[in-house]
Amino acid sequence: MPHKHGARNTDIADVAQLAISPNLPAHIPLLLDQIHAQGKEYLDVNPQARLDLLESARSLVYALETPREAILRHCWSETTSYAAIETGINVGLFTALGTDDNPKTVAQLAKTTNVDPVLLGRIMKHLAAMGVLLETGKDTYQPTGFSKTLTEEKYSDAFPLMTTRFTQGFLALPTFLAQTNHTNPTNPTHTAFHLGHNTTHSFFEHVQREPDTARRFNNHMGVYAQGRPRWMDPGFYPVQQQLIEGAVPTIDAEGVLLVDVGGSFGHDLLAFRRMWPDLPGRLVLQDLPEVVAGVPAEVAELGVEVLGYDFFTAQTVVGARAYYLHSILHDWPDDLCRTILANLKAAMTPGYSKLLINENVIPDTGAYWETTSLDFIMMSIGSAERTESQWRALLDGAGLRVVRIWAAQRGVESLIECELV
Ligand SMILES: C[S@@+](CC[C@H](N)C(=O)[O-])C[C@H]1O[C@@H](n2cnc3c(N)ncnc32)[C@H](O)[C@@H]1O
Repeated sequence: MPHKHGARNTDIADVAQLAISPNLPAHIPLLLDQIHAQGKEYLDVNPQARLDLLESARSLVYALETPREAILRHCWSETTSYAAIETGINVGLFTALGTDDNPKTVAQLAKTTNVDPVLLGRIMKHLAAMGVLLETGKDTYQPTGFSKTLTEEKYSDAFPLMTTRFTQGFLALPTFLAQTNHTNPTNPTHTAFHLGHNTTHSFFEHVQREPDTARRFNNHMGVYAQGRPRWMDPGFYPVQQQLIEGAVPTIDAEGVLLVDVGGSFGHDLLAFRRMWPDLPGRLVLQDLPEVVAGVPAEVAELGVEVLGYDFFTAQTVVGARAYYLHSILHDWPDDLCRTILANLKAAMTPGYSKLLINENVIPDTGAYWETTSLDFIMMSIGSAERTESQWRALLDGAGLRVVRIWAAQRGVESLIECELV
């Protein structure tokens, strides 16, 4: 039966044929040529070529697979591999398999993990089918880079974080959007998160109440930007020139150079201090008291000051050279962003203080899947990733002047440099 909203000229017999034919056949020859050329560049050790090759390979899969295969990929494989991976994490499978490349049998691993060998065999077969492990023989497996990475909690915590405190919100989105007549969600107290998790609390209220959620979330945030260009890296934002040389009055050791507002466990300030060890001025980390209670000792050891602070209240560090917000404003709808920005503005010194906003700036075309996925995550809690014009409207309306948007890779992790008007 044709879909009730999908009336098209294609008749039912055609759809049945389409369902088992490649999705975008006309794109396949060009993609194959592209992959051939990019593969050569990758072998020449060009780092950008790896990303280009990956994008083309993904596009080739989407073009080559049939609609029926695509449906099964979405509905079967992605959801079930999630279950297999999280179970693997729970029973210590990836640690037991190890980080050397020696293959191990299901029988050996069943003993180490104390899991029924029949069940473990089924889990490992699926993990190998999904590329998480490498099958080297009957009931014998070798780790991959992926499985080795899952031996560390800061990476593996993404899975229980998502299943316990996000996924049910995503699953509730279609129902929530129907209930709200398909209007864009902007109310953080009435969201798919609330519906799916059957709760009256927001995600961040759960973070404040649940130590496990707080630890998993901060672990996840700690590695979130890994492997992407960072604003402080040479060639992205000219740190020395924009923050130090341009400062009048000149910044001294007593002044505050950078306040990371909502900085989680301090990973950005740690990276900044390591990359720019000789810059003058103090570094201050702020986050909710429940979060800063868990900040690792090395943050203070590297001289970063740690303060419990709620960014919906008056900013306590006044007149810093720069205030830094990384992945903060995307968590909140415009009206609450304006409150956060007003608190920062009141603390900024005209002609001296800067606001550095480190966020995705969604391009008009060719948005990257990581950014659009994150936009859906934000949608489930009542906020959004923003396009350049949405950022400019928000900041102009809040009385801030955008000096420049510094960008690297397709708008991912851009740095929006602002001053007081
Ligand atoms: C998406 S995370 C970003 C963390 C960090 N800036 C980064 O990029 O990795 C949002 C952060 O905002 C913090 N946060 C949420 N509500 C807050 C509030 N009212 N005041 C201060 N921090 C808050 C959370 O604890 C969390 O660390």
